Amino acid sequence: MTSLPDAHKSLPRTIAIDGPAASGKTTIGTLLAEELGYLCLDTGIMYRAVTWQALAEGIDPEDEESVTKLAEQIEIDVLPKSVEDGRPFDVLINGLDRTWEIRSPEVNQNVSLISSYPGVREAMTRQQRKIAERGKVVMLGRDIGTVVLPDADLKVYLDASLKVRAQRRYAEEIAHGNCVHLDEVIASLKHRDAIDSTRKVAPLKVAPDAVVINTDNLTIAQVIDKIKTILVQRDP
Ligand code: CDP
Repeated sequence: MTSLPDAHKSLPRTIAIDGPAASGKTTIGTLLAEELGYLCLDTGIMYRAVTWQALAEGIDPEDEESVTKLAEQIEIDVLPKSVEDGRPFDVLINGLDRTWEIRSPEVNQNVSLISSYPGVREAMTRQQRKIAERGKVVMLGRDIGTVVLPDADLKVYLDASLKVRAQRRYAEEIAHGNCVHLDEVIASLKHRDAIDSTRKVAPLKVAPDAVVINTDNLTIAQVIDKIKTILVQRDP
């Protein structure tokens, strides 16, 4: 196992972890942040929160103007987990716990469309940059290294084949007692990947200065170890 530098002297202020759906960002990011004593901000939950709230209010996901207005007003909070039910943290929307609701199939189906709206991205990006100003943050998403924090001190792009990502997401769904078919999971990931990587604003892509890690044949511990090796070897 790789040890981190003494007293975390030369650790980066901001770490960006990007990658496609179910590439392991949340698991890896949460563990890495815990080990470093950093805040982990999973920006996917912000887009999921906007999507869930829009659906809950009966707003048509194709109504860009209304969705954007909602994104500018919504209050999203991420707090340490209050329940041991597999959640990495609590997600509150306008003060209410919506941790699991934002993972519903309806949200999965609509989140990429809603994330493609420039006004929605602007509202979320503004909040994300504000949080990063404090430093000591691991930020997870699609556009963190390219758009949100182009000057991030360390950029990692986590990748994995569609087959492996679908199997991981399928196992997660089954573990949560959700009745899904592998084919549906594959279709849902493909659908989101396609929209996320072809949208006009902030598409999913590898930042030129990012380290790409393919996690197909790596355990969680191996991925963490690889990132720690990069942390130790990088120029401060
Ligand atoms: O956890 P999973 O990989 O399934 O996805 P997520 O990180 O929760 O993100 C859900 C969706 O939010 C993505 O499919 C993107 O459409 C959008 N998203 C984005 O556009 N930009 C980000 N920085 C993070 C997420």
